[in-house]
Amino acid sequence: MRKGLCCQSGVVVVLVLAVMVAVVVADRYKQQQQQQQQGKCTPTETDPDGDCIIGVSGQDYPSLAAVPSHLSFTCPPSLPGIFADVETACQVYHMCLADGTMHSFLCPNGTMFHQEYFVCDLWFNVDCERAPDFYSLNQYIYRDPEPKDNKYDK
Ligand SMILES: *[C@@H]1O[C@H](CO)[C@@H](O)[C@H](O)[C@H]1NC(C)=O
Repeated sequence: MRKGLCCQSGVVVVLVLAVMVAVVVADRYKQQQQQQQQGKCTPTETDPDGDCIIGVSGQDYPSLAAVPSHLSFTCPPSLPGIFADVETACQVYHMCLADGTMHSFLCPNGTMFHQEYFVCDLWFNVDCERAPDFYSLNQYIYRDPEPKDNKYDK
C-alpha cells in the first residue's frame, strides 16, 4: 500500500517534469519563429543594422511603412504613366491615369522604383536622382505593339 503510493507519485512527478520541459521547448520554438517573422538577422559587415537587407535602413535605402501624405509630386499633364518619387528616394511610385487621377504605391523596403525598367529593383541598382531623366519613357508604355513581320503569316 505504502509502496504503491510512493511509486504513483513518482510517476506523477515524472509526468509533470515532462510537461514542463515540453512547455519550455514549445516557448523557445515560438520565440524563434517570431524572430524569423520579424526578419531579424544577425548584423554583419554588409548588413550592419541586421534587418536582413544589405546596407543601412534610412541611410542607404528608405524604409517607409506607408506612402507619406502631402508629397509634392503631381502628375505631368498629358503624360500618363508610372513615375518614381524622388522625394521619397524612389520608394514611392505614382501611377498617373489619362484622366489625371493618381494612385501611389510603395516599393518593398530595400528596393526603389527603377524608372528605366518600370520595376522595384534593389536599391543599389537604382540611381534615384536620375529618375526624372527617364520619365519620358512613359510615352512608350500602353502603346499598341507595332504589327510584327511574322514569317508564318505569309
Ligand atoms: C519597412 O520598414 C519600416 C520601418 O522599419 C516598417 O515600419 C515597415 O513595416 C516595413 N515594411 C514592410 C513591408 O516590412
